Amino acid sequence: MSMERVVSIEEVRGALARPRLEGRTIGFVPTMGALHDGHLSLVRASQARCDLTVVSVFVNPTQFGEGEDFEAYPRDMDADVALLGAEDVDILFTPSVAVMYRDGIVTSVDPGPLAELWCGASRPGHFTGVATVVTKLLNIVRPDLAFFGEKDYQQLKIIERVVSDLDLPTRIVGCPIVRERDGLALSSRNRYLSAEDRTHALVLSRALARVREAAAGETDGAVLMRMLVGDVTSEPGVTLDYAAVVDAGTLRKVTKVQRPARALVAARVGRARLIDNVSIEPPTA
Ligand code: PAJ
Repeated sequence: MSMERVVSIEEVRGALARPRLEGRTIGFVPTMGALHDGHLSLVRASQARCDLTVVSVFVNPTQFGEGEDFEAYPRDMDADVALLGAEDVDILFTPSVAVMYRDGIVTSVDPGPLAELWCGASRPGHFTGVATVVTKLLNIVRPDLAFFGEKDYQQLKIIERVVSDLDLPTRIVGCPIVRERDGLALSSRNRYLSAEDRTHALVLSRALARVREAAAGETDGAVLMRMLVGDVTSEPGVTLDYAAVVDAGTLRKVTKVQRPARALVAARVGRARLIDNVSIEPPTA
């Protein structure tokens, strides 16, 4: 079966009507394109668990702030179509801004306090834009399962919360971070990095790996956090935005690692704002 590309909401619903009636399960992977192996890992997770996979490519203007990189955000539809076709994706949905935001919608989804923390503090309104577009996409596609990367850990937690609070009938599946061999987390924004930036950017995954290891013996959240901040700030060419050790569920700073936690980091490297994170387990026994 070759991939069907659709651009309108009616076409998506039309293409899914029969499979839905036949009881085939629908998996969905929302993206902003400029696809890489991180995105493709979500596509493969969907295909492993669902009868049919829908991918969307939409650079969502409402999740970019004033002065952010909406215009510059990498767009490469031909390459994306080729990659998704090779993965045997069933339906590719590529709406325009006019399709998603007909005469400027005024309703939005406010994800509440989780959206005020970390990336939300540096990017006001960002998670409202994300929650709104994801809610719309879930209502358009109405998938059984929707796949999101742990790469954007706060985004994943917010979407889980929105889906639960609004009783959306989709199950959210979180998928592990895909990294380059040297540790750098794959990101569409890595395209902004010069060769030199890229070497500096490695401090993020390196510092996270070190704090994760340290957590096997050290459970003091402040000590772990200082270690992370120290590592990242000592790297030239890197400007720290935030680094924290937080509860894996509430995203609040932890004073002691007693239940699953997460180390989060965001920093500017050259022209790129990069984020990364790692799970922190409480020591066993
Ligand atoms: P985008 O940045 O294109 O990411 C789409 C999905 O791919 C997200 O769920 C993200 O977490 C996942 N992803 C990105 N890099 C990854 C990596 N290295 N490993 C694993 N998964 C990775 O996130 C968005 O788009 C948008 O905010 C969106 C949810 C589409 C709403 O506009």
